[in-house]
Amino acid sequence: MKILVTGGAGFIGSNVVDAYIREGHDVVVVDNLSSGKKENVHPDAAFYLMDIRSDDLRKVFDIERPDVVNHHAAQKSVPKSVEDPVFDAELNVVGLLNVLNQCVAFDVKKVIFISSGGALAGDADVIPTDEEHVSDMISPYAISKYVGEKYLHFYAVTYGLTYVSLRYANVYGPRQVAEGESGVVPIFMENFFQNRPSELYAYADQPRGTTRDYVYVDDVARANVLALTKGRNVPINIGTGVEMHIEDIYRQMQEVLGHDLPLIRKKERVGDVRRSCLDCTRAKDVLGWEAEVSFKEGIRRLYRYMSKTNSP
Ligand SMILES: NC(=O)c1ccc[n+]([C@@H]2O[C@H](COP(=O)([O-])OP(=O)(O)OC[C@H]3O[C@@H](n4cnc5c(N)ncnc54)[C@H](O)[C@@H]3O)[C@@H](O)[C@H]2O)c1
Repeated sequence: MKILVTGGAGFIGSNVVDAYIREGHDVVVVDNLSSGKKENVHPDAAFYLMDIRSDDLRKVFDIERPDVVNHHAAQKSVPKSVEDPVFDAELNVVGLLNVLNQCVAFDVKKVIFISSGGALAGDADVIPTDEEHVSDMISPYAISKYVGEKYLHFYAVTYGLTYVSLRYANVYGPRQVAEGESGVVPIFMENFFQNRPSELYAYADQPRGTTRDYVYVDDVARANVLALTKGRNVPINIGTGVEMHIEDIYRQMQEVLGHDLPLIRKKERVGDVRRSCLDCTRAKDVLGWEAEVSFKEGIRRLYRYMSKTNSP
């Protein structure tokens, strides 16, 4: 199968590209390298340095004629989306529409769209949260991902396009960059490597911090392989269903890495989702997928990778 992966030079997209190539598929990557790196791109993948909003995208589709499009390229920061909702919509809505128009024009068999389970569920009253519980979205990022799913539905109904929307929980693993918005795992990991203490934002009534559902990137890549042939016109949560407090994440990482660096307690941050964990029953039913890598095993794998490369 020929698969075009947008954002295939980024953290998750490049791991998905590797998995597709291991399965024997032909892969084409379109990425503008705004946050991705050329060295993340598998040497057997064709690479186009291009913005998903470009008119030239049509030429790539004309040359490559992909069977499936896997859409990872996006503006992925919640605070950035709040600061600049226009930029967020340009990438996550207008960019998506440019990709979908090419999919229709060149008879792509399926689109795998990447959405966000955490952002869409928000501060849900039901935890773990299934796909039917969508919150009152309070960030342009959540809105643009949700609108993306609505556009996919429109293209399915109007042009017969087939899609699946994978709503990720918090993903961690090799090639993730430790920035403010990438989640605590790469930040704690980097701090352990640099012998620096880490910070915990705690609530008076939730002293161990917010909760999150952390899923290892190899499991996420496997879901993308299964989604090539399974799942039709539905959103599917991709997480572990295990709700972990940030302090527990830190303690488990400490145990695996054998560190005793202190955790500095800070007051809660405004706007943080307090609890987040996905119900992934549909992934099991539709894709035959379940997360297999435990948190401690994921940390061991990430540590081995970082020890070899000395970088995330
Ligand atoms: N990291 C997570 O925990 C998480 C959780 C939920 C959803 N997601 C989604 O997964 C996808 C990948 O996220 P990631 O964490 O790997 O981020 P990333 O920044 O590592 O990857 C995004 C890739 O898209 C590329 N890109 C950005 N804008 C582009 C444009 N206009 N044209 C072409 N390429 C462009 C970047 O260069 C980068 O390679 C995003 O859609 C994100 O919203 C991530």
